[in-house]
Amino acid sequence: MPSKALILVGGGTRGTRFRPLSLDIPKVLFPVAGKPIVSHAIDAIAGIDSIKEILLIGFYDDAVFKDFIADSQKQYPGISIKYLREYKAMGTAGGLYHFRDEILKGNPSKFFVIHADVCCSFPLKEIDTLYLEKQAKAVILGTRVHKDEARNYGCIVAEPKTGRVLHYVEKPESKVSNLINAGVYLFDKTIFDTIAEAKTARDEASASRFGDDDQDVLRLEQDVLVRLPQTGSFYVYETKDFWLQIKTAGSAVPANSLYLQKLFQANPSAPGLRAPSATIVPPVFVDPSAQVDDSAKLGPNVSIGPNAKIGAGARVRDSIVLGGVELKHDSVVLNSIVSSDSKVGAWARVEGTGHHTPASGAPDGVTILASNVSVADEVHVQNVLVLPHKEIKTDVKNEVIM
Ligand code: GDD
Repeated sequence: MPSKALILVGGGTRGTRFRPLSLDIPKVLFPVAGKPIVSHAIDAIAGIDSIKEILLIGFYDDAVFKDFIADSQKQYPGISIKYLREYKAMGTAGGLYHFRDEILKGNPSKFFVIHADVCCSFPLKEIDTLYLEKQAKAVILGTRVHKDEARNYGCIVAEPKTGRVLHYVEKPESKVSNLINAGVYLFDKTIFDTIAEAKTARDEASASRFGDDDQDVLRLEQDVLVRLPQTGSFYVYETKDFWLQIKTAGSAVPANSLYLQKLFQANPSAPGLRAPSATIVPPVFVDPSAQVDDSAKLGPNVSIGPNAKIGAGARVRDSIVLGGVELKHDSVVLNSIVSSDSKVGAWARVEGTGHHTPASGAPDGVTILASNVSVADEVHVQNVLVLPHKEIKTDVKNEVIM
């Protein structure tokens, strides 16, 4: 089994589609189902006994991950967890190349690479089993999406019986395949030879175009993966389990539901999950420091953050309520995200109509209140994105409030 895993966390200049939530917190640290998005990947990696090191690679300031790394390290004392910072956005393979000595330290024969922004069951053991069975040099996680959606992703053509990848195209203009790159890979260490070849090819191409390319940027998909089918040892493991990419802020709502449902199925009495009752429709996660009135009804698919206060008769469904939020009595929150320290007044209704289309822009069937927003008593807010520190005093529908 592999001894290392790398997680690509991106940086502050990306994740703009995650606004307004990324104005408050870096996307990968946004809590979904009670923990930061990236922790779901870390927990899955930590479930593999052989893993001794997790490297987060991105171009956020070091300070952004300081507390998170310390907390994760405390949770998993047997695994070394580090953040490696690119001095600028180097692309999905540029950072791997730049930090190759660190990655190859200890001579790992193979390692996982995971996109921080995918929500899935991370079938890492199954990927490794296929790798061993096929004596592969690389295995990619694949998933099927609707044929009209496939062009937004990397598309994979594989031999149906063996899973051997014959062709890989990143975001093709025409329809190629609805089996797409799900953002999880297991690479043999010889991937660095392919990355070096890709880099040489890019440098040469750039020199012939008068050097107008950014020399340090290297893309795993367009520069490296496209070279792998010709090795004959590149395979796809197709997951039939849930998969979603967390791109827009609205996509955190279905990701929250999927992770909560998975957690509830695996262990209905997992820490933080509330037992079913007349006022709890599972799955519901409530931070132990939150105060929920006995007459409030929660669920399904609800996460309540630390120190939140949920008043009498409130109703919350398919939503994420972050730390320090106050939902006054008889308020309703549906298909929404209510960010830190926001307030929703008595009898107010904050809702999304729930027609989420992952590739679309905002508002996409959710309402999102960024931090420190207040919604007055009895006001109705529907399919609205609200930037931090705003007061909503009248009804509003299908708008972005800047
Ligand atoms: N360290 C680092 N440096 N990470 C990066 C960089 C970079 O310069 N650029 C992107 N990332 C991270 C992002 O944070 C994300 O976790 C992952 O790499 C992929 O992000 P994007 O480059 O935005 O690609 P995408 O989401 O449009 O598409 C990719 O992911 C899809 C699956 O989620 C491609 O790999 C597709 O083929 C794939 O289907």
